[in-house]
Amino acid sequence: MSTLGIGIIGAGTIARAHLDAYAVHPEADLVAISDVNPERARAVAEEYGARRAYGDPHELLADPEVDAVSICTWNNTHAEWAIAAVRAGKHVLVEKPLARTLEEAERIQEAVAGSDRVLQVGFVRRHAPNCQVLKSFIDAGDLGEIYYAKASCIRRAGNPGGWFADKDIAGGGPLLDIGIHVLDLCWYLMGSPTAVTVSGSTYDLLGNRSNITTLPRYQVSDHDPAANSVEDMATALVRFDNGATLQIDCSYSLHAAQDSISVSVFGDKGGADLEPRLSIATEMHDSIVNVTPQIGSGTFEMEAGFQAEIAHFVDSCLGRIENLAPVGHGVEIVKILEAIYASAAQGREVALS
Ligand SMILES: NC(=O)c1ccc[n+]([C@@H]2O[C@H](COP(=O)([O-])OP(=O)(O)OC[C@H]3O[C@@H](n4cnc5c(N)ncnc54)[C@H](O)[C@@H]3O)[C@@H](O)[C@H]2O)c1
Repeated sequence: MSTLGIGIIGAGTIARAHLDAYAVHPEADLVAISDVNPERARAVAEEYGARRAYGDPHELLADPEVDAVSICTWNNTHAEWAIAAVRAGKHVLVEKPLARTLEEAERIQEAVAGSDRVLQVGFVRRHAPNCQVLKSFIDAGDLGEIYYAKASCIRRAGNPGGWFADKDIAGGGPLLDIGIHVLDLCWYLMGSPTAVTVSGSTYDLLGNRSNITTLPRYQVSDHDPAANSVEDMATALVRFDNGATLQIDCSYSLHAAQDSISVSVFGDKGGADLEPRLSIATEMHDSIVNVTPQIGSGTFEMEAGFQAEIAHFVDSCLGRIENLAPVGHGVEIVKILEAIYASAAQGREVALS
């Protein structure tokens, strides 16, 4: 059996989801872990049985036993490490967002274009069973032409703090962090149309609500509850060249009655909710019929999602399948997100070139 030597760059919270998935993959061989925090790299390497730990990711990229890397660092370093990894001849799975800005994302795309390496963007929810089952219905034409999509991811008091709340490092707030997942799911299910205009608004009226301590929060590795320079919430309408529109809202802080996630797409033959639970609606014999594919809980499950994402990455690197989250998709999503921020700053609709 062929194996793939794996390196992990950034040994924080989400690296563990990658490591758990590599650990159960029969063809993944965990070689090395690196983090700018060398103690963290060492501790995580020991815990997961990696052969080597490095404080400097350049050393990991020079390790000849490493064939492929997961980049799980802060957003401001994705471009640097993705480009260095591809140039060092490694395949790359880079966490979302591909980069903070379109300029950074396009530099990564250029580096990938000049190589024969796989770069997969960490759009983990695409790989989850509920999404793949719905995609098979859509590809078979069961929903017809999709002309409208709605994406929402609301946290009432869910600013993770630390670098996630630092605009310079993260590039943005809930839009770049959690809105990206639901926006991407819609865009992927719509068949990746080209965005032509964007009208967005962002707000920062509530702050990080660090006074709310009664709800669980995503735990960033180096937490600082006081820091915050990102938006509380964002909302936007995106128009595509095929006439379709997508509406999104997302928040870290909002006076909503509950946290929620929803992803829906609507076509001329049928519609579907992907989140919070997969359900397909259509019309048969003058009746509206709801179809519920039977797939476990029908919702996104972290462990299954990361295992599917990592299995897809290994298969792509070993040349067995086509990468379903290529660098170009990461670039298009960053382009839309950047346009939402630009529209919000200018207070008007903006056109994408
Ligand atoms: N797919 C998902 O659902 C999901 C969920 C959470 C986070 N993420 C993404 O994963 C990435 C990491 O997030 P996290 O929550 O694990 O953050 P984290 O702060 O817990 O971990 C990041 C780690 O990267 C290290 N690091 C930072 N800069 C580095 C550099 N230049 N070189 C080497 N190591 C460096 C830090 O020391 C830290 O250990 C982010 O891009 C985030 O958007 C994705």
